[in-house]
Amino acid sequence: VNRTPLIAGNWKMNLDHLQAIAFVQKLAWGLKDANHDFTAVEVAVFPPFTDLRSVQTLVSADKLPLAYGAQDVSAHDSGAYTGEISGAFLAQLECQYVIIGHSERRTLHREDDDQVQAKVQAALKHNLVPVICVGESADDLEKHGPSAVPVAQLRAALAGVDAAADIVVAYEPVWAIGSGKAATPEQAEQVAAQLRAVLADMLGQDVAAKTRILYGGSVKADNILGFMREPNVDGALVGGASLDLTEFANIVRFQK
Ligand code: G3H
Repeated sequence: VNRTPLIAGNWKMNLDHLQAIAFVQKLAWGLKDANHDFTAVEVAVFPPFTDLRSVQTLVSADKLPLAYGAQDVSAHDSGAYTGEISGAFLAQLECQYVIIGHSERRTLHREDDDQVQAKVQAALKHNLVPVICVGESADDLEKHGPSAVPVAQLRAALAGVDAAADIVVAYEPVWAIGSGKAATPEQAEQVAAQLRAVLADMLGQDVAAKTRILYGGSVKADNILGFMREPNVDGALVGGASLDLTEFANIVRFQK
């Protein structure tokens, strides 16, 4: 199976809606000018909620070949959930993707596996592709080795997921996020292979073969190629480096 690589930029809480417009425009046109084949390597951005309407307007008006999504979604559809954003609202803004269970949500907002699982269900209900984030902390790594926690997190997130569902998995070792200390390609591959085995076990071989598994954690233009050479790594979830136009464009153009 041929999996289209996905390079995804998670902006986290950066770039307001005016900056978002300028950034997305420059990114898309810059890549077009460089003859980037968006069907060969898909590019997605994950701006803050307040930017999504601007990004939608720009992408649809200029027919930009960029995908986009939100950084989180509520487990609920509507109602008395102050501060939360429904998957229905995201679908209305033509988001294709939504990040779920990012380590910053798990740590800073105490999201547990049950909440992640409920959010995955909410995303799928609204036809959003969940980008399910899993990863071990430095402490987990020391105590349990590299795969145990990500494998358990993925198993929990996939409970109740139908084999027909479209999903993306992102392996992000917590110790590599924003630290400048990326995992080695071999480390990423080792865990990605285990995660693919979970997909095969829970959703079947076909789903395992077609589902993209991204690596995230201090990805830069100068280390992306090593990850992309690994058979089970199908792209990257990029944080800090996704905010630098040239750097992010060079990550997208990793083959050049
Ligand atoms: O979602 C992205 C990750 O948290 C990676 O962030 O590239 O700044 O290490 P980073």
